[in-house]
Order: sequence, then C-alpha cells, then structure tokens
Amino acid sequence: MAIRDILVVPDARLKTVSAPVAVVDDSLRALMDDMLETMYAAPGIGLAAIQVGEPVRVIVMDLDHRDGERTPRYFVNPEILWASEETQPYEEGCLSVPDIYDEVERPAQVKLRYVNYRGETIEEDAEGIFAVCIQHEMDHLDGVLFIDHLSRLKRDRAVSKVKKATREADAA
Ligand code: NI
Repeated sequence: MAIRDILVVPDARLKTVSAPVAVVDDSLRALMDDMLETMYAAPGIGLAAIQVGEPVRVIVMDLDHRDGERTPRYFVNPEILWASEETQPYEEGCLSVPDIYDEVERPAQVKLRYVNYRGETIEEDAEGIFAVCIQHEMDHLDGVLFIDHLSRLKRDRAVSKVKKATREADAA
C-alpha cells in the first residue's frame, strides 16, 4: 500500500468524467487500498479515484474512523437509483479544495447500487452524513466539485485561496 498525492484545484484532471470499471480484480483492489491509506493519512472521510489521478469510477469512504475504529467502505461504479425530494444542507469540505468549507444542499436520502471490494453488487439506502458523502464523492466521478454547487463568486474565491496557500507552501 502507498500514500498517493492528492490533486488540488485548479488541477484540470479534477474535471475528468471517470470511466466505469470493467472488473474488480487485484489491481483495482490495490488502487482501493492505496486510496484508503491516502484518505486516512490526509485525513478525510471519503476519496474518489480521480483525486489521486486515476479516472475510474471508484470511491473509498470511512465515516467512523475519527472515533478510532476503521470501517472502510468501497464503492465501484456507484449509481443513484432514487433520490428524495426532501433536501438537507450540510457544510462540506474536500481534500482537493483544502481548508474551504461551505454549505451545499442535496437530497436527504438516496438509494444506491454499487459493486463492493469483493465484486458483489449491493443495493443500499443512504441518509444523513452517508448520503451527503456518497453524493459528494459521486460528483467527483463526473468532474464536479462541491464548490461547483456554490455561487461563481464563492467558487472563484475558494480557488484563489487554495492557489495562494499552495504557492505559499511551495515557497516555504
Ligand atoms: Ni471531495
């Protein structure tokens, strides 16, 4: 397992529409292992493959690891089968937009279909932070960031802030 570099805005690769995975094999599991280590090290609660430069429809997540125990989850080729009319606002952040947080409104509940680490197809309902996180990560698979849900002014300001912070870190 290895920790990979996480792409940060305005890296154009983050706008890639990722390709479906044909088969869950050992090389894909190796990528998922790397993504999980990268996410834990960051630290974050979710990561999409494109954030480490791999344009495939793969997400890793662990909503509980901050409480100590690791409960990793893997989503290959995730699809939303149903989304509630009811929406909920949640203050989101993203490892590719470091230190920026803002409220995004998304459907409060979704029904998912995805393939897991063992290659099994699963259907599952999501609500609360799980619903927020899976929708945020699935946006990444289509080249969409949470700041794309904000006003142009807020989005431009967020990207400038990250660029400035990156420049300062490079200079230090
Ligand atoms: Ni993100």
